[in-house]
Amino acid sequence: MGRKKELAEKTVWRSDPHTQVKHLMYRHYLHCWMAKILQRFPEATIVDAFAGPGVYQDGPPGSPIVIARAFLEHTAYRRFGKLNLVCLEERPDRVTELRRQVARLPASPGLNVQVAEPGLFAERQAELSALAHRGKADMPVLWLLDPFDLKSVPFSLVRRCMAGRRDEVLFTFFSNELHRFCQREHYDKAMDTYFGSDLWRSAVQVKGAGARKEAFAEAYEQMLARHRLLSGRFGIRISNQSARYHLILATHSEAGLKCWNPAAWKLDGYTGRGASAATVMQPDLFGGQAVVDRLDEALRSHAGTAQRWSALSSEAARLGFVDKHLRTALTKLAAEGLAIRVEPVKAPTPWPEGCIVRFYAPEDLKLEEAED
Ligand SMILES: C[S@@+](CC[C@H](N)C(=O)[O-])C[C@H]1O[C@@H](n2cnc3c(N)ncnc32)[C@H](O)[C@@H]1O
Repeated sequence: MGRKKELAEKTVWRSDPHTQVKHLMYRHYLHCWMAKILQRFPEATIVDAFAGPGVYQDGPPGSPIVIARAFLEHTAYRRFGKLNLVCLEERPDRVTELRRQVARLPASPGLNVQVAEPGLFAERQAELSALAHRGKADMPVLWLLDPFDLKSVPFSLVRRCMAGRRDEVLFTFFSNELHRFCQREHYDKAMDTYFGSDLWRSAVQVKGAGARKEAFAEAYEQMLARHRLLSGRFGIRISNQSARYHLILATHSEAGLKCWNPAAWKLDGYTGRGASAATVMQPDLFGGQAVVDRLDEALRSHAGTAQRWSALSSEAARLGFVDKHLRTALTKLAAEGLAIRVEPVKAPTPWPEGCIVRFYAPEDLKLEEAED
């Protein structure tokens, strides 16, 4: 049976390597999200809106079980508030299988799993939102949106999931389909609905499959930014090809990025931008030499100013980096004489939290040389 037929017809289908990479990314993100959210709030919710049957034919768990296990096996579990896990799946046979899988989880007073009656996400979003928020608009809610196609999650629906101030959405972005079909007749309507605008159009001109897929994902992130949302993306690849799809996180809070970025860098220590099953298992071929060009460029643009650590750390997070990269980039600039810590005067490490850094341009160094 071909893959398409298998996904369309069978209740439970075989897993594949890229699904494992997607689940790894989920697990790293969930580990951090749970530690932050469930130790701060008495209750939070995860909505798995395209839940699937909860298991793959060859044995691996499906996403609802991955989420439940991330909770039950978390090292800080005993300090956690309550987690509601709300699942929706369109097909009745998959719902039955998912309920069977959920029933096999160890009972835990802290974990409340609800598998809704079968239904379509677009029709049930309002009901899921009410179940998730439980009458509290500011309840932290993480939405996982992992459909099979781009029609199921128009931009308007992503926005509805972001209505609460602590709502976050982690969704599958169909970069490959966009790349393949963007020039087909009448496909532009589907693209407009998917992006909530025609911001995707400039990406069509980009040459090369990998670059164009990144350009689509970038355009989507720009659209999120227009709605004052922060975002991060990670490419899920098959062997050494360009991204098959992206995972995109949309969040209101920088704290979301402070979980997302480390997860991305764990799976791809070189660029933090994407991984396949082959690369995720590779030893670090680059000896920890992460590509920090974008950060380096941003820091150089501060020439002539002094910046607080908090602002620099925030800027690094928004560019997809973690504090470790910020320190590396600052050390490199300092070695060129272009960055100097001005506060505190004494510190056990070069770039402590709370420090203030003054930046210079290469021309400033030339001035000094001229006077020698
Ligand atoms: C990619 S699979 C989900 C895999 C699962 N998230 C995992 O990682 O193990 C998508 C699932 O969503 C279901 N589905 C498709 N369209 C849907 C819709 N509009 N609403 C809810 N579920 C839908 C499919 O039947 C399928 O089981």
